[in-house]
Amino acid sequence: MTRNGRFKGRSICLVNSLTVDEQRYLYRKAREFKTELAGGGSADRFRIADLDYSAYLIFLENSTRTRESFRNAAKFHRVRTNMFDSATSSFAKNESITDTIKMLIGYAPESCFVIRSKLEGVCTWLDHHLGPWAVENGHERPVFFNAGDGRHEHPTQEFLDEFSFLEHLHWKDDVIHLALIGDLLHGRTVHSKAEGLKVFRNVTVDLVSPPELAMPPFYVDAMKRNGFEVRFFHSLDEYLDSGTAAKLWYFTRLQLERMGESNLEKAPLFKKALTFRKDMLSRVSEDTRFYHPLPRDRQVPLIPGFLDNTPLNAWDSQSVNGYYTRVVEMAMSAGVLGHDFDGQGREKPGEEESFVMEAPIVKKSGKQEYKVGIKPVDSGLVIDHIASGMPLEAIWDRIDKIRRILGLNLRSSHGVYHSNRGPDVFKGIISIPDVLSFGEKNLKKLGAVSPSCTLNLIKDHQVVKKYRLGMPPRIYNFEELSCKNENCISHPKNQESIDTSFERKPDVQGRDRFICSWCEREHDYSEIWTI
Ligand code: CP
Repeated sequence: MTRNGRFKGRSICLVNSLTVDEQRYLYRKAREFKTELAGGGSADRFRIADLDYSAYLIFLENSTRTRESFRNAAKFHRVRTNMFDSATSSFAKNESITDTIKMLIGYAPESCFVIRSKLEGVCTWLDHHLGPWAVENGHERPVFFNAGDGRHEHPTQEFLDEFSFLEHLHWKDDVIHLALIGDLLHGRTVHSKAEGLKVFRNVTVDLVSPPELAMPPFYVDAMKRNGFEVRFFHSLDEYLDSGTAAKLWYFTRLQLERMGESNLEKAPLFKKALTFRKDMLSRVSEDTRFYHPLPRDRQVPLIPGFLDNTPLNAWDSQSVNGYYTRVVEMAMSAGVLGHDFDGQGREKPGEEESFVMEAPIVKKSGKQEYKVGIKPVDSGLVIDHIASGMPLEAIWDRIDKIRRILGLNLRSSHGVYHSNRGPDVFKGIISIPDVLSFGEKNLKKLGAVSPSCTLNLIKDHQVVKKYRLGMPPRIYNFEELSCKNENCISHPKNQESIDTSFERKPDVQGRDRFICSWCEREHDYSEIWTI
């Protein structure tokens, strides 16, 4: 069979790597696959069955379920399966992950990589960087499956979780009420719920955690933006006392290995607040089900062993579903499935919004001059309206940033002046005489460093061109940028030599936030700069 389904070459780096309709398609196909196997069918129509197709399982952190379900999925597909041993690989000689994967792509005409790493954003980076590289070098576009990256996301776990909820709800996707219980700060599987639950049309999420382990605001905001009702509780007792507990409970373990010392000291309190006790049994309704991405911590199991053989146990069947969903994810991205998809697919990336605009030149009566210090500028460049309206200190700081980032170490002057917007309004100006071109790259840089300033080109004392600069939709490729998440693959500490890149997105209050393109850490504008 020709493998040319519409998802061919698509990576799953994030839950949002698939649209909601594409996720529904995945669940439909996983259901068909599971049913066919249960009926004794061969399920051959789901199989890649190609020994030129290579599946690399690269687990740089421990795993049982994700690794073994993908390994078994690869066996089902009858493809070359490679278990990558990081301890004896050239990672031990400080090879970067980009170099390693680039080399492995060369060993087969077509490959997929299942990667678990403590570094966040690895798959997004590799897909962005090595996808086009592979195609240019005569390979099929490689596929990356994020098998869990630090605290960030675990999208294939999310898909098996949602599949399990849908299965329990008899495939009805109109409404879900779900409790997320445990270490919501560090648990990547609960973070992924902020997007994964969109597959349901009406969502209520109860977040049950002590304040120290609360869900990060980034994900709470995303839930609200996605229209979920979000409620907060600090302990299981408080939750049960509310009398409005959900029937689906999703636990996530206390990630003691990721906690700082002060929180580690509080571990016994967290355990007390979040562990289900025997006396609570009479307070949950019979049709309640407990889910857990597993593993359970054998010292601190939030779902203790006495619950294993009760109807509450939905976590065992949940983990088995990882096999069905991962077989289908591999089949989709290898182009085996997807011919019968008729929903809303991913939009093609649009043109980058323009943020450099030529502005009209307003001719004023009388003599109008920009000066270098006390001398008028005959010809040259003037950067005007720098940080206009901001406090004086911020304006000086912005002038300094512009000079340093753009390397303006030439004969020039700068200062802070009154703006004509009012007596208490100030702005910065930099004048550079005798320079008549600025270059597109510098223009973009200037927009990124000092949005809403203007660049004026002066000839014979006249402004002959004026550009007004907005904030670019993406800020990238400057040495002076860095993601502040130390676990991000692009963070200098990790020595992966990866370009820093931020996407500008408004938050719920409409303020500009800057999201790392790889690990999705949210930043203020001032935080993205290293100077
Ligand atoms: N749920 C999960 O990711 O389990 P593993 O760590 O065993 O892969």
